[in-house]
Amino acid sequence: MAILTHKGVEKLIPYPPGKPIEELERELGITGSIKLASNENPIGSSPLAIQAIKDNLNTIHRYPDGSGYYLKKKLGKKFGVPIEQIILGNGSNEIIEFIIRTFLSTSEDVIQAIPTFLVYEKVVTGAGGRLISVPLSNFRIDLDGILNEITEKTRIIFINNPNNPTGSVLLKDEMLHFLKEVPNNVIVALDEAYIEFITDNLAARGLDLLSEHPLLIVLRTFSKLYGLAGLRIGYGFSSRQVIDYMNRVRQPFNANTLAQAAAVAALDDSEFVSLTLKTVNNGLQYLFRELDKMGLEYIPTQTNFFLIKVPGGGKTIYEKMLREGVIVRSMASYGLNDYIRINVGLQEENERFIKTLKKTLNRLQV
Ligand SMILES: Cc1ncc(COP(=O)(O)O)c(C=O)c1O
Repeated sequence: MAILTHKGVEKLIPYPPGKPIEELERELGITGSIKLASNENPIGSSPLAIQAIKDNLNTIHRYPDGSGYYLKKKLGKKFGVPIEQIILGNGSNEIIEFIIRTFLSTSEDVIQAIPTFLVYEKVVTGAGGRLISVPLSNFRIDLDGILNEITEKTRIIFINNPNNPTGSVLLKDEMLHFLKEVPNNVIVALDEAYIEFITDNLAARGLDLLSEHPLLIVLRTFSKLYGLAGLRIGYGFSSRQVIDYMNRVRQPFNANTLAQAAAVAALDDSEFVSLTLKTVNNGLQYLFRELDKMGLEYIPTQTNFFLIKVPGGGKTIYEKMLREGVIVRSMASYGLNDYIRINVGLQEENERFIKTLKKTLNRLQV
């Protein structure tokens, strides 16, 4: 029997998530594996967030606060944005879905860079939209190339800053120029999942740009800096009107009670934030030093992950390192066949990665 799907669904390939440690260990019968494949926080979760979860466990027989009042209030205060201009999501991924469900009709166009975060393609294609992908230029998003693709059918543009998987950033001046050129009726979704890791003072920051384009939506997450990926909580900023429309498609209880409580607490956890940033910066320095010694090319990054060009191809290296209990990400599904992507781990994980990579490359040469 032929099953009729929504236009576009048949074209979709399931998203390839980083392999979970438990699955690898079950398959290979090994223990002590490490995972550097999903850009997660290496040091764990904010302890204040964990305490808040424990404190709220006795309330989970009730539905969550559907308005997300306390979290939005806290975010509003921290970032100087009225709560009517904030939306919460079950991860920032859900806000990507809100954007598509709210603003895109079948056969309308969306523009993105390529390679970029794979979820945009998934959601747009699944909704029956037409995706136009503009190749990166020297591993950076090509804003002029994107502007050149805008037509009357363009409804949404996705910009990921820093860009996953390259770790490159757009500068404020570049974004100012870009936003001036984008027609006023086109949504610009600026995904800043890794914004807090940026060290370049000239980099674009969505909050400074909100007044530059009426349909700018800035996406943020608690998954990375605050180590709450498993809870699924993200947020977005935009104009009152855009947020109002997206709230109309949102399920009433999309952000769960424990996630909201943990996120409120995490925002106060400056100690955890500092330790995370220090771990990432020190880890990057160590990894770059070791890769330099090995004579391997890598792409400079403004976040907690980066690309490494590996002899033998990314897929081969990924598979061989997997057998040694080190999970990295092959970039084949992003069209970068020569590369793997890793995120910074704890120092002992970084050392194990380097040791295993050396061993793997040595074996390839025999
Ligand atoms: C660019 C980008 N945006 C969004 C997300 C998803 O974030 P969340 O966990 O908030 O859904 C990720 C996660 O890997 C990402 O890389």
